[in-house]
Amino acid sequence: MTEKVAESSVELHELIARRWSPRAFDPDEKISDKQLRALLEAARWAPSYGNTQPARFLVGPRGSQTFDRILGVLTEANQAWAHRVSVLFLGLAVTRNEKGELPYATYGVALAAQNLVLQAVAEGLAGHQMAGFDPQAARREFSLPDDVEPVVAIAVGKPVDADILGHEALIDRERAPRRRLPLSEIALSDWNVPAF
Ligand SMILES: Cc1cc2nc3c(=O)[nH]c(=O)nc-3n(C[C@H](O)[C@H](O)[C@H](O)COP(=O)(O)O)c2cc1C
Repeated sequence: MTEKVAESSVELHELIARRWSPRAFDPDEKISDKQLRALLEAARWAPSYGNTQPARFLVGPRGSQTFDRILGVLTEANQAWAHRVSVLFLGLAVTRNEKGELPYATYGVALAAQNLVLQAVAEGLAGHQMAGFDPQAARREFSLPDDVEPVVAIAVGKPVDADILGHEALIDRERAPRRRLPLSEIALSDWNVPAF
């Protein structure tokens, strides 16, 4: 499998350094019930605004109807690789409760999603988050009520060598180095003034 450990000026925890978003996954890898629970427990223990816990996840292990239904609402480009993963999730935000609009609902889903993805790394797997899906189609497919918003799809599986992707351009993209803005551009002591 391709490894793309983050280059950083100081050593990072390996869960953070080793996480990346592959598209080459082992089509024969089955996720265990324990691993699946671990991913969702990690999501459950994410922080949220006022502990409002807005995140919900549709859970589709490969071979299940839910997998096929989530796969069906992904863009074609995402379907082309995501059909091989061990489990597909659709992250949903509950945007209202009995007191009214829930602030920071999508932020809560993002935090839960990242917890899930980091736990995937801890399980020897990898996660790939996707905005490339049709939210209206997801809404129809799962009969979601108006106060539930589809936010992100997440693919989790066992990463394998890029060759499985078949096309040269896709293989090259899979092996391309990861890029980030320099620390001096994101850590500021005043606007446009680097903190380091
Ligand atoms: C909210 C969100 C939506 C994304 N949507 C897609 C997507 O639809 N398809 C895809 O292949 N990658 C998608 N990505 C993956 C990003 O392209 C990837 O995280 C980014 O290039 C950084 O690479 P890294 O995760 O390997 O560090 C998405 C990531 C996030 C966080």
